[in-house]
Amino acid sequence: MAKKIRLGILGGGGDSLIGVLHRVASHINDNYEIVGAVFNPDHEANLAFAKEIDIPTNRIYKDFDTLVEEEMKLPESERMQVCSIQTPNFLHFPMAKKLLENGFHVICEKPMTTTYEEARILQEAHQKAGTVFAVTHTYTGYPMVRQMREMIKAGALGKIHKVDARYYQGWINPIIHDKDKRSSVWRLDPKKAGISSCMGDIGVHAFNMIEYTTGLQVKSLLCDFNYLYEDNQMDVDGTVLIRMGDYVKGVIRGSQVATGEENGLAISIYGEKAGFRWEQEKPNFLYRLSDTEPVQIYKPGHAYNSDFSLDGTKLPPGHPEGIFDAMANIYLGAARAIRGEDQNDGAFPTMLDGVRGLNFIEATVASHKGGNVWVDMD
Ligand SMILES: NC(=O)c1ccc[n+]([C@@H]2O[C@H](COP(=O)([O-])OP(=O)(O)OC[C@H]3O[C@@H](n4cnc5c(N)ncnc54)[C@H](O)[C@@H]3O)[C@@H](O)[C@H]2O)c1
Repeated sequence: MAKKIRLGILGGGGDSLIGVLHRVASHINDNYEIVGAVFNPDHEANLAFAKEIDIPTNRIYKDFDTLVEEEMKLPESERMQVCSIQTPNFLHFPMAKKLLENGFHVICEKPMTTTYEEARILQEAHQKAGTVFAVTHTYTGYPMVRQMREMIKAGALGKIHKVDARYYQGWINPIIHDKDKRSSVWRLDPKKAGISSCMGDIGVHAFNMIEYTTGLQVKSLLCDFNYLYEDNQMDVDGTVLIRMGDYVKGVIRGSQVATGEENGLAISIYGEKAGFRWEQEKPNFLYRLSDTEPVQIYKPGHAYNSDFSLDGTKLPPGHPEGIFDAMANIYLGAARAIRGEDQNDGAFPTMLDGVRGLNFIEATVASHKGGNVWVDMD
């Protein structure tokens, strides 16, 4: 095993939702060592958390600018190589841009930025930097999602004609009806989240999954949002009709007020020969549907799976693969790219996925605000 990659972390403190997923995932394949961080904008909390998880505090910086400045003073052999951005959305762009401009590899949470314009600026900065840039659309890391992608690529569905992706959550329902509670949530604050809550936070995952598994691109869309209250500026529910070609059509449904739903991401792809159905809450079952045969269920770790899918399983079949493993597969892909090793196509979502995501989010808002009209994507 080559030496571990020196990883920095921005955000993801003890008070965060997603930090633990990144930290565990980065360790699963033994590729990374956390060397520096700004876990929290409050430096006391920042240091306390580093101590709690037993990371030396000499490279726990008071803020992001100091992290870059101080790391750049270190010899290359000690300097952080890649930095993982796990902060609220509005910080992704300034952080990622500065990291790229200073020659670092970047692993960035979604949505990659808060505007499409920022996403394209970042794309240019990335082209100049020539470093690795991964966007953590976590669900692409599941072995059965990778299996679906490989089988579709090999023609298992024939001509695709219908796609359906939904991501239903319910956690905003107990919040949205109370004005005070609503104002305490950054995902409902456009200054911190960007122009969309539901599509920006979870609809973008469903969108990414459709493009990732089919290899097709959404060409145009029509969106209808629900804001629930006149004084709420952020969508908390939305339905999007999509066209991926003249005869390839579908729907993306997102909700944060689907009462009682947890992380109900589900994707179905139908073609002339067969269909696939996969659900995030039961990620070890990929259903193949047919006109003429009984339903088939593919499961991770069996030799009948593609090399790409098998590359993402570590234990024999029957040991469930979960979200930590899915994120670990993205970290694994990024590690191989950082080391310049060969790897599978689709091993991690790229800058292009990040840019497409912002193109999608802005198109949904433009469609809704324009009176539910069809809007072309670039
Ligand atoms: N890939 C996924 O499936 C997935 C799931 C959940 C969240 N996310 C994304 O992850 C990001 C974080 O979401 P979350 O739910 O963990 O948010 P959170 O509010 O729970 O945590 C944010 C963390 O960032 C820290 N932070 C805030 N400002 C900072 C600053 N200036 N410098 C350093 N740290 C700072 C906070 O202290 C906190 O620890 C968001 O962009 C979100 O969209 C992705």
